[in-house]
Amino acid sequence: MAERIAVTFTLNGEKRSFQVPAGRRLLDLLRDDAGLTGTKEGCGAGECGACTVLLDGRPVTSCLVLAASVEGCEVVTVEGLGGAAGHLHPFQRALVDTGGVQCGFCTPGVAVTGAAIVALDVADPAEQARLLAGNLCRCTGYTKIFAALEAAREARHAK
Ligand code: FES
Ligand code: FES
Repeated sequence: MAERIAVTFTLNGEKRSFQVPAGRRLLDLLRDDAGLTGTKEGCGAGECGACTVLLDGRPVTSCLVLAASVEGCEVVTVEGLGGAAGHLHPFQRALVDTGGVQCGFCTPGVAVTGAAIVALDVADPAEQARLLAGNLCRCTGYTKIFAALEAAREARHAK
């Protein structure tokens, strides 16, 4: 049997430990070992963004991250974006309200990247577009996704 590596990290606010083969992708650990199937696999090659999660607060494509490399890190998946179970992040709520979800395949990755953009308080549309460029959506034309970003940013400032 292939040698396994112990990895311990914070996953959606909880300290978790796993034993993984050296080449295991973070995407597979999340979906198959942790049962968090909200994170999707599209291309498996870093091109589509469907597998995006937050790694120490930054969006990364989990298909390109080795599970063993996240030792001591903080990982947040789409399931953990809203904090407590069943709660939506303001950007997730805005995606629903603006109709920024159509087939939904890109949505977990878009939600994760969008939440990071809201956290950075990026107001410039060109910069928002640059930051979202790694998340491909074939359905929405992006207009409603950008409307959701603006709505979530406004909600943040209204607090
Ligand atoms: S599945 Fe990771 S970028 Fe497409
Ligand atoms: S909603 Fe279908 S790919 Fe984005």
